[in-house]
Amino acid sequence: MKALITAGGHGTRLRPITYTLNKHLIPLANKPLLFYALEKIAETGIKEVFINVNPGEKELPKVVGNGKRWGLKIKYFEQTGGPKGLAHVVKVARPYLKNEPFVFYLGDNIVLGSIKPLVKKFLKEKYNAFITLSKVKDPERFGVPEIKRGRIIKVEEKPKRPKSNFAVTGIYIYQPIVFKILPQLKPSWRGELEISDLHSKMISKGYRIGYEEITGWWKDTGKAEDLLEGNALILENIKNNIQGKLGPRVVVEGKVQIGKGTRISGKTLIRGPVIIGNFSKIKDSYIGPYNSIGNNVEIQSTEIEHSIILNKAKINSFKRKIVDSIIGEEAVVTSAFQTLPSGHKLIIGNNSQVEL
Ligand code: G1P
Repeated sequence: MKALITAGGHGTRLRPITYTLNKHLIPLANKPLLFYALEKIAETGIKEVFINVNPGEKELPKVVGNGKRWGLKIKYFEQTGGPKGLAHVVKVARPYLKNEPFVFYLGDNIVLGSIKPLVKKFLKEKYNAFITLSKVKDPERFGVPEIKRGRIIKVEEKPKRPKSNFAVTGIYIYQPIVFKILPQLKPSWRGELEISDLHSKMISKGYRIGYEEITGWWKDTGKAEDLLEGNALILENIKNNIQGKLGPRVVVEGKVQIGKGTRISGKTLIRGPVIIGNFSKIKDSYIGPYNSIGNNVEIQSTEIEHSIILNKAKINSFKRKIVDSIIGEEAVVTSAFQTLPSGHKLIIGNNSQVEL
């Protein structure tokens, strides 16, 4: 078997972060989003992986590499003709996937459980396609299955009136028969070849589609809140590992990872789960639960919770609390009262969001 992973798109809902960083490289618990997908694929025993990237993408292949560190062989290919939908990505990948079954994995999806049992079930029960479901509060944002007597009879993309409270997650398994069905699809109202239409078409033609509810959590990280929630879910499972130096008045509670060369000093409380990278400096601060703090970050006199801080950011909020935030590389957050005249001084890029 092979795997096809998506890592293209423009991540418009995650601007301004995605102006400079491919969404799939945004770190969750200090690890690029796409690495989680690659770990899940490696676990299944699949070796050959094809990653779909935006035309001209240079950074992602540089960061992800040839796959050796996961025991994978990764090749990259560009999406031709702009964003035309997930079913189009599969269509374009045909020459790479050849005549073998494959896992199709959306690189911005993260899951807790292993996908190995799903692959096993797909092969053992000889399905033509296999999809995974997860219960959600807002099915209208996703592909939604209609299930009757234990069988999926249709999948609707972003329905106004969802027929179930399940979302079809971005982890699919296919037999090469899909390449015969794909040319029959027509673009949807949003001008895309929808993956849900592929599934509905297969069902209407009598092909067997298996499904399984995903175990543990699943998250599609399209929006900032989702990223923060994904980050928190991953942090739930970290183990203690403290390599940096802690001053005498530093208190560490719960599960905390602190990288090498990092110095925590002054009167500081770190309440896990928290991950802090290498060579960062934290002083007189409260680092609350669900923070991921990168490398070479400086934080002083700040209270912060449930946030993602990228490398080299500098924060000094003079004890004011920062929550639910994503702070980009080399961004600077300081108190309005350090320089005169006092007042909020903002130099913020396009599509930034600030809550004062
Ligand atoms: C895509 C699929 C949708 C699926 C979702 C999972 O949605 O079209 O069926 O439920 O991924 O992440 P999109 O990301 O295009 O909104």
